[in-house]
This record gives sequence, C-alpha cells and structure tokens, in this order.
Amino acid sequence: MIVDERVVTFINSLDTENIEILEEIEREARASSVPVIRREMQSFLKALLLIKKPMRVLEVGTAVGFSALLMSEYVPEGCRITTIENYEKRIPIARENFRRAGKEEMITLIEGDASEVLRDLEGPYDFIFMDAAKGQYIHYLPDVLRLLEDGGCLVSDNVMQDGEIFESRFAVERRSRTIHARMREYLYELKHNKELTTSIIPLGDGVALSVKGKYNEQTS
Ligand SMILES: C[S@@+](CC[C@H](N)C(=O)[O-])C[C@H]1O[C@@H](n2cnc3c(N)ncnc32)[C@H](O)[C@@H]1O
Repeated sequence: MIVDERVVTFINSLDTENIEILEEIEREARASSVPVIRREMQSFLKALLLIKKPMRVLEVGTAVGFSALLMSEYVPEGCRITTIENYEKRIPIARENFRRAGKEEMITLIEGDASEVLRDLEGPYDFIFMDAAKGQYIHYLPDVLRLLEDGGCLVSDNVMQDGEIFESRFAVERRSRTIHARMREYLYELKHNKELTTSIIPLGDGVALSVKGKYNEQTS
C-alpha cells in the first residue's frame, strides 16, 4: 500500500454506496478474488468522467466488467464503451454482468490479447482507461496514442506496483525487475512525450492521468 492505510480508511469511510447492481457485482467479484478498481479510484474516475463527458471510452482490462459498468453510470447519454479482456473464464461473467445491468447495447466487450486488439482498433476515443497487465502498458502506448483524440484523457491505474516503483532496480526481487523497468519507462514516456501532459498521483496503487495535446511545446 503506497498511501497510509489510515488515510485510505478515512477517505473511504466518507464514501457513499454505488447503485445496487454495482454493489452486488463488486461483492461477487471480491468474493471470488477477481480484481476490481479500489473505492478511492472509483471516486476519481467518476469525477473525471463527469468533467470530461466522453462519448467514446476504451478500457483495457475488463475482468468481470465492474469498472466498465461503473463508468457507464457517469458518462453522457449516447456514449459507447469498448472494453478488452483475454481471460476466457472472466469473459462470460462480464457479458452476463452487462446483461444484468441492462448495458449490453452500450458496452462492447472485445475478446483477445490487448496488444493485438489495440493494433486493429480504429479510434478516436476521448477517454482510455488502462487497467490490464502492467508490464505491457509501454507496448500498448503507440496504439493508445494513435487511438486517443486530441484533448482526450488516458488514465493508467496501478502504476506504482505497491511501492516497488520507488525502489532501485537492485532492491526489487529479480523476477519483478522486468516489470519494474517497463513501468519506469512507461512513466518516463508519459511525462516526456510531447503529445502528453501527465500528472502521476499517489492514489490507490498510483494513477497516471494524461491529456493528449501538444501543450508542451509552449513550455519546452
Ligand atoms: C485489474 S483487472 C481489471 C479490473 C477491471 N478494470 C475492474 O476494475 O473491474 C486486469 C484485467 O486485465 C486482463 N488482462 C491482462 N492482460 C491482458 C491482455 N494482454 N489482454 C487483455 N486483457 C488482459 C486480466 O485478465 C484482468 O482481468
């Protein structure tokens, strides 16, 4: 945990509940150890979506559809959400959850490996939520940038790897070094790419909020 547990507990104690179907799906997911975005990340996403009002959302990493359904409650009418998942066991559950929530029309689930799906997708999207294999984010970035329209937001979750990201390469277990190096490279790219303006926020397990647009040229 990168944020003091007392701080997180306090912030989350102020939270109000989601609608019943979301509460149910979140409970079921947690009971079967399926990852879902944390409560503090949920609030952050809701606020961002209400500010941005996106009409085409892309999510990488559906799991059982909780975050896609959460997002669907905070976007304008007519918005379409596309979400990508490659784990066969989770795909039918996600589809069933979209049906239970009455959102099968609004949310399209694409089955397959994100790197291949992203390569074949056509944009533009005005909001992209990255929540899949952390070591792959750097490889997805060229396609994500191609798919994201000017002024679009990219939200990347879990960028601090439970705090390992601050540690030197040698303090990290050998088997985690590749992912550590790739995530550092990803964060460096988000901060230095001329097409992006990025804020890295110690929220949940770390989130990077990037906006596409060549604003950097005015300052560098
Ligand atoms: C953290 S979970 C997503 C949680 C979900 N966004 C939510 O909050 O409800 C990450 C998901 O990404 C999927 N995933 C990992 N690597 C992937 C890949 N290469 N292509 C597609 N999906 C992938 C995993 O199977 C997993 O279900």
